[in-house]
Amino acid sequence: MDNKPVVLVTRKLPDAVEIKLAEHFDVILNPEDKLYSSDELLQLATRADAILPCHTEKFTAETIALLPTRIKAIANFSVGVDHVDLEAAKQKQVIVTNTPDVLSDATAEIAMLLMLGAARRASEGERIMRTQQWKDWSPAFMVGQQITGKRLGILGMGRVGQVLAQRARGFNMCIHYHNRHPIEDKLAAGAVYHDSVEALLAEVDVLSIHCPASLQTKGLINSQRLAILHSNAIVVNTSRGGVVDDDALVNALKSGSIAAAGLDVYNGEPDDINPEYSHLDNVFLLPHIGSATHETRNAMGYRAIDNLIAIFNGEVPKDRVV
Ligand code: DGY
Repeated sequence: MDNKPVVLVTRKLPDAVEIKLAEHFDVILNPEDKLYSSDELLQLATRADAILPCHTEKFTAETIALLPTRIKAIANFSVGVDHVDLEAAKQKQVIVTNTPDVLSDATAEIAMLLMLGAARRASEGERIMRTQQWKDWSPAFMVGQQITGKRLGILGMGRVGQVLAQRARGFNMCIHYHNRHPIEDKLAAGAVYHDSVEALLAEVDVLSIHCPASLQTKGLINSQRLAILHSNAIVVNTSRGGVVDDDALVNALKSGSIAAAGLDVYNGEPDDINPEYSHLDNVFLLPHIGSATHETRNAMGYRAIDNLIAIFNGEVPKDRVV
């Protein structure tokens, strides 16, 4: 008799992950990768003991209240958990896990790409090439900024921030950071701590955002804070759109109060993003692909599976958030 717990997988995961998951659990898969509505999700959840979702599924307090009581866990395929009302999950005694560590390299790579793309006007250059508009070369043509030797400000010096700092040191960047508390000297590796966001902004040429989205960080990068940055500054965001006030960033980019931005995450993504971004030459835009490498997506899946195995073995999962 097969009495494996049933796991509802909300999106199409890498084949290797789905195969491994099926070794341990009965699975409800989504081979067509349909984006479920809350009602569809709740309906499917009646057949499951746990859910393995992505950040694309919103677990509001209302949805969590309606989850069948047999649902023991929400084992996310993401490090971010802002799509889950954690307090509601706690009240309902639903375990919530995430997938930290395994996406730090991939996300730091995208932060570097955004930084370089924004600084060297990659978006404009690519557009010129793709539309066959390149007519001339001159010393003044498409001149951008050099990243080498500049000051990088990391807002949120957690796992991704620390990997980015290592990569940026390869460009001889001088690392500054803000966290609620300084990190251990060994991990900081000489990075300069600032005890406020404002103090950090006053000292940097590039700001890279790595703090999670929460009530405390919502709209943290607003017009007052952007005004502290100098006019050649670049803003990079690979964390969550909610940390940035889009109107304020658009205004800063339009007015020239900062030079450029590189963005991978947005308020209202994917289909309700501030339309102004797409009209600006000085932004380099990507569609939330920070963790989108084969290596990382597999590792995220395996990490979620390990968490589920621990939960159904009655152990505390490694990545328990709630
Ligand atoms: C994460 O893991 O949080 C990524 O943004 C994908 O959801």
